[in-house]
Amino acid sequence: MPKHALVTGAAGFIGSTLSERLLADGLRVTGVDCFTDYYDINLKRANIQSALQNPQYQLLELDLGAADLTALPEVDVVFHQAAQAGVRASWGKDFAAYVHHNVLATQRLLERYQNTPLERFVYASSSSVYGDAEKYPTDEMLLPRPFSPYGVTKLAAEHLVLLYGRNFGMNVAGLRYFTVYGPRQRPDMAFHKFCKALLQGDEIAVYGDGKQSRDFTFIADAIEANVRAWQRATAQAVYNIGGGSQVDVLETIAILEKALGVKARLKFETRPPGDPLRTRADATRLKQDLDYATQIGIEEGLHAEASWAQGLYGSKA
Ligand SMILES: NC(=O)c1ccc[n+]([C@@H]2O[C@H](COP(=O)([O-])OP(=O)(O)OC[C@H]3O[C@@H](n4cnc5c(N)ncnc54)[C@H](O)[C@@H]3O)[C@@H](O)[C@H]2O)c1
Repeated sequence: MPKHALVTGAAGFIGSTLSERLLADGLRVTGVDCFTDYYDINLKRANIQSALQNPQYQLLELDLGAADLTALPEVDVVFHQAAQAGVRASWGKDFAAYVHHNVLATQRLLERYQNTPLERFVYASSSSVYGDAEKYPTDEMLLPRPFSPYGVTKLAAEHLVLLYGRNFGMNVAGLRYFTVYGPRQRPDMAFHKFCKALLQGDEIAVYGDGKQSRDFTFIADAIEANVRAWQRATAQAVYNIGGGSQVDVLETIAILEKALGVKARLKFETRPPGDPLRTRADATRLKQDLDYATQIGIEEGLHAEASWAQGLYGSKA
């Protein structure tokens, strides 16, 4: 019998790519998604087209924060990717959606699986739990101090995952992704917006002076980390998933200009609240426990995202 995985957020950027990888590895996959309207749901429908062709895949359309979760099957492993993502929209009245999709949904999913023979519950956490960190590179022992309401909800859910692990002996792991990019990246994320603007001849909005830097993680590396966390993680641990490429925003635009053969027109705007100036992962624990170091550098990764975006928006050239 093949192992059975539950992937939540299965129609999103990371969840859809992870589902395809697990199917290719011979697993049975149940995907869960409620198709929130945070971005165009046609993109999400397109993300799952290939998985839906596979007889080992089934999709359940339900809201983890509201539906009766006894409908979810018994599985060997849960990869919990569903969330309301995005730092900038998490202020004001929309915070309620972040609490619902990130905190309540996670608690309900943990309740559903806490008494089942699960090999691992893998939670998609975020570098945003660190906020403007006091130390770079940032390791997992640093006291998390989020800088946005989004980061607070991701940290709250991470604590829930860890405390269910400690209280009920569940094998859990939290993966603190550092800005994931590549084909299918969400349309609110910087590289997707940059590619679209370049391909459509629009101006690129750059926040601040464009010198803010991020630790960027290619999608295939984030996926591999999920599989390894399932198979090898120390029980109840969190891992930084990053350490690949630290570059600033202007450098990434220069790479995309080359990849797409288009000169960028920049407009500089005020840096929005909640965005840290810098992120940089200490990836020692990833290497030690999961025997993994990210493989794909920023040039190669951005070229892959650029050619995917050309398929989506057409080439200007
Ligand atoms: N992309 C990144 O760089 C990044 C960085 C750090 C952390 N993360 C985390 O990784 C995960 C995946 O991110 P992504 O970029 O693929 O986002 P995404 O928005 O593309 O995917 C999330 C999916 O979850 C679904 N969803 C949301 N709430 C749900 C609910 N209550 N029930 C069922 N489905 C629900 C949405 O419809 C969406 O399809 C999220 O948990 C996010 O917080 C992402």
